[in-house]
Amino acid sequence: MDLPLQLDRTSVVPLHRQLTQQLRQAILDGRLPAGARLPSTRSLAAELGISRNVALAAFDDLFADGYVVGQHGSGTYVAHDLPVLPRPAMPTPSGAPRWLRPTAPPALTFEPLRPGVIEFRLGKPAVQSVPPDVWRKIWADIGSHPPPADYGAPSGDPELRAAIAGYLGRARGVACGPDDIVVTSGAIQSLDLLARAILLPGDVAAFEEPGYPVSRHVLLGRGARILPVPVDDDGVQVDALPSGSDAPYVVYVTPSHQYPLGGRLPIPRRMALLEWAAANDALIVEDDYDSEFRFDAPPLPALAGLDTSGRVAYIGTFSKVLSPALRLGYLVAPPPLRERVVRLKHLTDFHTPWPVQRALASFIQGGHLERHIRRMRREYAEKRAALRATLAPVEPLARLIGLEAGLHAFLELREEIDARDIARETLARNVAVSTLDGYYHAMSPRNGILLGYGGLELAEIVSGAAVLVDVIQRKAR
Ligand SMILES: Cc1ncc(COP(=O)(O)O)c(C=O)c1O
Repeated sequence: MDLPLQLDRTSVVPLHRQLTQQLRQAILDGRLPAGARLPSTRSLAAELGISRNVALAAFDDLFADGYVVGQHGSGTYVAHDLPVLPRPAMPTPSGAPRWLRPTAPPALTFEPLRPGVIEFRLGKPAVQSVPPDVWRKIWADIGSHPPPADYGAPSGDPELRAAIAGYLGRARGVACGPDDIVVTSGAIQSLDLLARAILLPGDVAAFEEPGYPVSRHVLLGRGARILPVPVDDDGVQVDALPSGSDAPYVVYVTPSHQYPLGGRLPIPRRMALLEWAAANDALIVEDDYDSEFRFDAPPLPALAGLDTSGRVAYIGTFSKVLSPALRLGYLVAPPPLRERVVRLKHLTDFHTPWPVQRALASFIQGGHLERHIRRMRREYAEKRAALRATLAPVEPLARLIGLEAGLHAFLELREEIDARDIARETLARNVAVSTLDGYYHAMSPRNGILLGYGGLELAEIVSGAAVLVDVIQRKAR
């Protein structure tokens, strides 16, 4: 028992009374919950430096009042069915404290999923297809040894880095070795480390418009000024990037499946972006968050695979290919930048947790990741076909785009059908969709709805999309 008990030997209140009072208070305010085992009188006496008789007298009082139960020799437990007083609230500073200035990064709130609602939420993969026997065996192996006694390398577990490097070469055309990789706790941490490594407050960062709000807030939180760069159905409009003295230090892009509109950046634009970065001495941050899933479309090489001037930092994640709850990602960056990132990672959380790194190393080494991706491609292709077929009746009113890759699509609505009205009405029928306006920083938004379908069951996609069709058709009448 680690309860801090303090006995005042100068007090006129006898020691056993003090002990009874403090234990009773701990029981009543919930610090010692119902069923908790109290230490033996012998060990309590030794710990507090009192005679055993004092401890016995205190326990007798607690027994007599019904606070504890138990029999001699079998332990003493806090009784059930006792009234529990409300826990005292955490103290809150009065007024507006000096150290909570309004300059802190704007808070993005996390919205948990709503039970009973079909949520077309972006970024949620399906995990049911991970073979349970494989998953169980990997974790059983990890659990069969004690954890290492020391920290691991801040850049990540060497076997995991080697496994990721092999995977990136095979799957994304990025030629790199284990030493080029930093393992992180997800894409967002990779971006945050990069921002800390390169940006000073007030620096301009170019960012897709619309774009991924979390990444934008990471950059804003590190003092960047955001320069919105327009996006069309093919992805970021590279020719809109300023050059010369107006060129930003860094540009953040999602070329394999623009987030959220879904375009795939064509090769000529990729080459133009790389040329722009080289000519303007800027860094491209390539967030390749869900490139593994493409449908009826040829693979396009990652910018990092085409780069010859060391101006791309490549961000990868296991959040879409496997699960966002693993909190595991990686970064490939040119050597001087990588070294800075490793030092910052060391000072952030030293390294990503060892069991998760080991689990993923085994998963990749055993060929399970690529097998899982192949299975998921087929599964997502079916879901995507179901979404497209169910939404077909609204085709004259709405245009479905961004389906060539990834796990979500964009349904652009005709101007007179307000996306926010549609979202409100579908939610009243337990179908949640997000509207595009929330993804813009400054420019005026296009009118439409984003549909994340990856994490939903086929039947949910069909019934949810049918509600959406009904709501849109009624609005258009
Ligand atoms: C564009 C984009 N980048 C990054 C992430 C988050 O990645 P991670 O979970 O690895 O932080 C997401 C998640 O939805 C995303 O959509």
